[in-house]
Amino acid sequence: MRTLAACMLLLGAALPAADLGGTWMMEQAGRGGSQARKTYYYFKVDGNSFTGQMVSSTDNQRVQNGKIEGNSITFETQGPFNDRPRQMRAEFKGEELTISGVGGRGGRGNFTPPVYKKLSAAAAIPADLLPTHKPLPAVKPLPPNGLALTPPMGWNSWNKFAGRVEDKNVREMADAIASSGMRDAGYVYVNIDDTWEAGRDGSGNILTNEKFPDMKALADYVHSKGLKLGIYSGPGRLTCAGFTASYGHEEQDAKTFAAWGIDYLKYDWCAASGVYTKEEHAPAYYKMGLALRASGRPIVYSLCQYGWLDVGEWGAGVGGNLWRTTGDISDRWDSMANIGFNQNGREKYAGPGHWNDPDMLEIGNGGMTDTEYRTHMSLWSMLAAPLLAGHDVRTMSDSIKEILLNKEVIAIDQDKAGHQGVRIRQDGEQEVWKKALEKGAAVALFNRGKDAARMTVKWSEAGVAGQNPKVRDLWAHKDINAPGEYTVEVPSHGVVMLKVN
Ligand code: GLA
Repeated sequence: MRTLAACMLLLGAALPAADLGGTWMMEQAGRGGSQARKTYYYFKVDGNSFTGQMVSSTDNQRVQNGKIEGNSITFETQGPFNDRPRQMRAEFKGEELTISGVGGRGGRGNFTPPVYKKLSAAAAIPADLLPTHKPLPAVKPLPPNGLALTPPMGWNSWNKFAGRVEDKNVREMADAIASSGMRDAGYVYVNIDDTWEAGRDGSGNILTNEKFPDMKALADYVHSKGLKLGIYSGPGRLTCAGFTASYGHEEQDAKTFAAWGIDYLKYDWCAASGVYTKEEHAPAYYKMGLALRASGRPIVYSLCQYGWLDVGEWGAGVGGNLWRTTGDISDRWDSMANIGFNQNGREKYAGPGHWNDPDMLEIGNGGMTDTEYRTHMSLWSMLAAPLLAGHDVRTMSDSIKEILLNKEVIAIDQDKAGHQGVRIRQDGEQEVWKKALEKGAAVALFNRGKDAARMTVKWSEAGVAGQNPKVRDLWAHKDINAPGEYTVEVPSHGVVMLKVN
């Protein structure tokens, strides 16, 4: 008995090393109209260690530091854009292999790790999944396209609707943006985010899925409301949600967008890590930048690559009117505050025609208090950030409307000089920010703390000339007499925002 057990243990230990080498594949069904996705692992075993590659339509990573110790198989995956390698483990289940991240979702109770089947010991990864390195143009910085002279304002479907965006709710949103006063306050772009795409026709033209039966008709409708229509794609094979993206069809897609009457393109990296290297990152954005310029239609170009690779340095040159500076925002105080208050230092990249984009607004989505949403609106306006609302405009409450439609605050965001505000003082959880305006300055006193706080700003530290400037509170909508300085109580997570002349 003991010998048999020992024998089996030995056998178990010997099996993986012999069997791991080769190509393994896992297929995930498409959900909600996205494409089915295959992921391949190719392992090359050398004794008790192995290397290899992981490739999918959305990813391409090196397998490194592979170790086989008995039944325990561990390795790392390293993609060109990851700071740190991801720790992975594999396990034989009969003829199959499960592969999952260590310490990730695999740690949670009901997570079943994906199961890979062996294709063959010799087979390599299918050629059509390997990066083909479609030729990319060398970047020669483009002159401005004359658009987005102030930060773009509008609405985007993602934060509220994600995959549920469709023709009907976009039309209803356009109606509500027009009738609520949002349009007249400047919110003119109605942007469809991910999940509108289907595949391509025989000539390679991108198709809309059943949620968007006629994009041209939708654009006509949105235009008839005095609004503009935005759309979404990316440089990879697939979008972030797994729908068709523009890889290898950039010019064709730009022409299609122009023919539909599209006015704004958000171009999202995501799966492009599967086809391009770091060096190809800016050129991939430039390729679409050139294609939009050649499309014959003025289209605002929004780069979405989460602030990687010092995008402020090259974003405008590849034709971008704005570029994301962070990962995705969520409708929580911490997420909003971490993103917003971390934008200090990027001000040199912002200006008319080219803006830093700390992601879209969550105002009205229910995860923050009105006080926190006022901070969100104030902070984004101090940052000269794009103001892209992301709530259900049809059911907006009066208090949310008051926040989004505060014309005095919007005017700070939209100031023609186009300066991004900077932090002038930080005392623990209290921060004073200043934004130079065409005439005068905006000053915001933010209290990130859990308790209300008394805060003071001296006009001299805000660079305001004279001891007795004209001061206006932009949320209370009243003028203030404050010679030399101003002291005020700021609620927890709240703001007092002033215009000083
Ligand atoms: C990424 C972007 C989001 C959104 C989704 C859509 O996560 O950062 O803003 O566009 O993709 O899939």
